[in-house]
Amino acid sequence: MTQVIRTVAELRPLVRGWRAAGEIVGVVPTMGALHDGHLSLARRGKVECHRVITTIFVNPKQFTNPEDLKKYPRTEEADVALLNSVGVDAVFIPSPEEVYPDGYMTTVSVGGVSEPLEGRMRPGHFDGVATVVTKLFGMTEAHRGFFGQKDWQQLQVVLRLVRDLNLPVTVVGCETIREPDGLAMSSRNVRLTDQGRAVAHVLYTAITAAADDIRAGQSDRMAIREAAEKVRAAGFERVEYIELRDAETLMPSNDVRRPRRMLAAAWLDGVRLIDNIPV
Ligand code: PAF
Repeated sequence: MTQVIRTVAELRPLVRGWRAAGEIVGVVPTMGALHDGHLSLARRGKVECHRVITTIFVNPKQFTNPEDLKKYPRTEEADVALLNSVGVDAVFIPSPEEVYPDGYMTTVSVGGVSEPLEGRMRPGHFDGVATVVTKLFGMTEAHRGFFGQKDWQQLQVVLRLVRDLNLPVTVVGCETIREPDGLAMSSRNVRLTDQGRAVAHVLYTAITAAADDIRAGQSDRMAIREAAEKVRAAGFERVEYIELRDAETLMPSNDVRRPRRMLAAAWLDGVRLIDNIPV
């Protein structure tokens, strides 16, 4: 049975007991509303670790829009049942006061990689992510942390953070899990209308075609422009960005010797969808 734990005081002795027995502990940080993408991280954790903790915390500090925070789906009972079905050992569900008690004053801010793309569109978002992830690593004392590549920039921010602060945790980036039509799984997908859901995959298919065209020799700019047109023609209200970037620094890159990533964000049905693929 997955143990439900709500305080650090309960979590500490449990994890310390595992660690004292020589067990490797993995953590899968989430904001709940779990889907197959999250479960694939937990399954990967089960393969690589003796014990897996999933955290569920809708982190107010990473929301730049109060409406988005209010509307964020909260499905605790179903989430715990799903985690139980994949054999997660413990789920840590702290209250906002447990994470940010009265007088809380510390922010973790990662320079460089946090600044472009999502960082520009959602100022302060990555400070919130970096702060809570640092805290979750400290609270869970996990050896390994599992993150989805769907949030590619977030993954790079966490990798940088762990390197820069010498945190004793190994970050594992896991493949994006997609619906059969290619749409990246996301807790936000449930907010799409049926009509929106039917075309949402175009964000992925358009950037995939652009990446293929770039590999075949088309100019980056032309391929990206065509991708944006396809996304708009499918019915998306707004394309925030489609960009080809250095996969690690997230800076603009035309250096084909280094890994590059195409990243996109666009609005459909008032829902902000993001995706990314290697180029
Ligand atoms: O990717 C998420 O769900 C969140 O950003 C994370 C990593 C759980 C931090 O709140």
